[in-house]
Amino acid sequence: MAEMIKSWLECIRCGEKYDFSEIRYTCECGGTLDLKRDLSQVDGRKLKQMWDERWGAKRGVYASGVWRYKELIFDCDEQFVVTRQEGNTRLYDAGKAGEYAGLKNFMLKHEGENPTGSFKDRGMTCGATAAKYYGAEMVACASTGNTSASMASYAAVSGMKSVIFIPEGKIAYGKLAQALAFGGKTLQIEGNFDDAMALVQDVCRELNIYLLNSINPFRIEGQKAIGFEVLQQLDWQVPDWFVIPGGNLGNNSALTKGLQELFELGIINKIPRIAVIQAAGSAPLSKMWKEGADYVAVKDPDTIATAIKIGNPVSWEKSLRGIEWTNGVVEDVTEQEIMDAKAWVDAAGIGAEPASCCSVAGAKKLVDAGVIKADESVVGILTGNILKDPDAVIGYHKDELGHMGIKGTFANKPQVIKAEVEAVKAAIS
Ligand code: F0G
Repeated sequence: MAEMIKSWLECIRCGEKYDFSEIRYTCECGGTLDLKRDLSQVDGRKLKQMWDERWGAKRGVYASGVWRYKELIFDCDEQFVVTRQEGNTRLYDAGKAGEYAGLKNFMLKHEGENPTGSFKDRGMTCGATAAKYYGAEMVACASTGNTSASMASYAAVSGMKSVIFIPEGKIAYGKLAQALAFGGKTLQIEGNFDDAMALVQDVCRELNIYLLNSINPFRIEGQKAIGFEVLQQLDWQVPDWFVIPGGNLGNNSALTKGLQELFELGIINKIPRIAVIQAAGSAPLSKMWKEGADYVAVKDPDTIATAIKIGNPVSWEKSLRGIEWTNGVVEDVTEQEIMDAKAWVDAAGIGAEPASCCSVAGAKKLVDAGVIKADESVVGILTGNILKDPDAVIGYHKDELGHMGIKGTFANKPQVIKAEVEAVKAAIS
């Protein structure tokens, strides 16, 4: 597009508008902000054609599976763009995991194939770009692990310093390893993710550090590209459902916002339904949605899916709005359901970290309940790489998660044998 699309920040609660030349994460009223744009003069057909022409770009900004859709991400000057050619992740046939879920047409979008191993890189490329645009030198986030791994990497490649707030002893080792390795200043705080999230907001305000949690509207814009890319991989044919895990609730908010924009532009002719899946021990949105109750944060969230061990998600209002737009649903799944679904995602040869497998566990549950029909087309989002949390994998397959109430139902136990051919024969016969 020769001309940039007019855009601004707008409160999702009270509608107040702000010019984005000034750094702002929330409205004066406390509501979260959208990056809105005036799409009335935009030709959706031309946009789609341009995105298709950029598919397969080998170098430069458009080689990224986020910046390919730049017009609907953050249409800033290219000099600010911080990219690791994120996105461009595969869309798999779910194989055995599809049979397990009871679906005939189940695809898995593997966001764990991003540069730092999670979908966070899509939001982070946009958030880090905004940081550069605002001239920030230091960035910060609270994290259950993946956001911090991603932020530390994007800060490192763009020469910014990063400060990370993580709940002490509660994040998966692969993620902590990445944060340390990429050089993020890592502060393990006494408390859970929700405490860390509250603290980082105060710290950023007082110390003038740029905040890169998904409360930052630019993070959400980047994450919309998951949906854009799935649709482009499907030649813009719209699936019936997207199934996605929910923690801090930024990712599903991004997905629905993106779908809404594509629909408004006529790029897609219907809006797929969305199913947001929470872990039962950390499920404030599911409780609210199922009981028609007011929002109440969960005090002591708990789950083996540590990525989504969150009791007070910052984007719950945006999330709910998106679920309403898409005639969506919210479900929660038990620890056993998460780990059994994971065993099937892994056994299908695809593999993902526990939180990701809420997509498959949730799809199965919704199929069993008759909400999703067996012949509907479903895209499950796998949010993180299998190697992020090896402890959970080994614990399950050695059937050592009994203390968490989890059985190794589909365990593939390692065997110790003598170093003799006869012993091998006996073991593999
Ligand atoms: N799956 C994984 C692997 C995650 O890391 C997260 C969130 C989610 C799902 C949930 O996405 O928060 O947008 O609803 N991880 C954050 C973090 C909170 O700090 O890495 P959400």
